[in-house]
Amino acid sequence: MSQLAFSLFTLASLLCFGQSTPLHSSHVRRGEKWETLPATPALPTPVNTATFAQDGTKLWFQKYNTAATGTPIVLIHGGLGYSAYFGDVITILSKTHPVIAVDRRGHGRSTYNADDVFTFDMFAQDTYALLQAEGVTCAVYVGWSDGAATTLASLLNTTIASTITKAFVFAGFQSFSDTNSTFTDTAIYAEFLSRSATEYATLQPSANFTDFGTKVGTLEATLPDWSDADLAKIDGSKVTIAGADHDEAVNLAVPAHLSSVITGSSLVMLKDVSHFAPVQDATAFAAAVEAIL
Ligand SMILES: *[C@@H]1O[C@H](CO)[C@@H](O)[C@H](O)[C@H]1NC(C)=O
Ligand SMILES: *[C@@H]1O[C@H](CO)[C@@H](O)[C@H](O)[C@H]1NC(C)=O
Ligand SMILES: *[C@@H]1O[C@H](CO)[C@@H](O)[C@H](O)[C@H]1NC(C)=O
Repeated sequence: MSQLAFSLFTLASLLCFGQSTPLHSSHVRRGEKWETLPATPALPTPVNTATFAQDGTKLWFQKYNTAATGTPIVLIHGGLGYSAYFGDVITILSKTHPVIAVDRRGHGRSTYNADDVFTFDMFAQDTYALLQAEGVTCAVYVGWSDGAATTLASLLNTTIASTITKAFVFAGFQSFSDTNSTFTDTAIYAEFLSRSATEYATLQPSANFTDFGTKVGTLEATLPDWSDADLAKIDGSKVTIAGADHDEAVNLAVPAHLSSVITGSSLVMLKDVSHFAPVQDATAFAAAVEAIL
């Protein structure tokens, strides 16, 4: 399937869900761990109601275990999702580390502007501005999918990269064409899309999920577009590229390729999980993050 077709399929799905297709609440349960989408974890309570004002938007974030020593771990979720998808990972990591969860612009509890054109640079600069305002001068970035692309965009900006001590790039990609062409045919994708719509309606009752989802779909159909030479500029000594051995969303060869072009980076493959590893096996995901610290 061409990228244009992928894009159109995504947009058609969103329009469809925005109209009259009933939302499914049952979970995908087909046996193997990598084929399931467990219930979205809960964020530790109480959930922050404060937000950071950035460029006309309000960005939700929350700090956990600020009393812990060490560099804060910043968790950057994937497309259409929000920080709660990292809920179990937050619970584990924040036992011993300071953790900061952020909802990227438009996602979860964070708002967007009607005329925004989402880019990974935008998300990188939003996150950087938020951390600077919070006095966080250095951080460990942990990005998942679109959050991984946001992490790579952050590493490619010398100002932002200088504040990143280590980066864990899970299910990342250098191009929109790294998307697996059969992803949108999978049951887990359908479940995730319908669940996202339901969650968005709860988190932002006055927002328009179709409008938001169309912006995300356009982003994912057009960006990123980094060459190998672009990625070679990243200081790989602080980067771990992580992949899932059953990733159904990003082509399976991508993690090894990213690691090969980001000289000096490490490569970790998580076992028996898919693109949704942080909800399928939070324990293994958190252990892989702790291993780089
Ligand atoms: C890098 O990020 C900083 C901080 O957000 C921003 O001011 C700067 O314009 C960015 N540089 C580039 C080349 O995008
Ligand atoms: C939601 O957004 C879509 C896409 O921008 C738009 O076509 C639709 O009219 C909007 N719906 C409402 C109720 O505003
Ligand atoms: C795409 O995902 C399917 C599983 O959904 C997998 O069997 C296939 O090998 C993947 N394709 C690539 C190019 O990674």
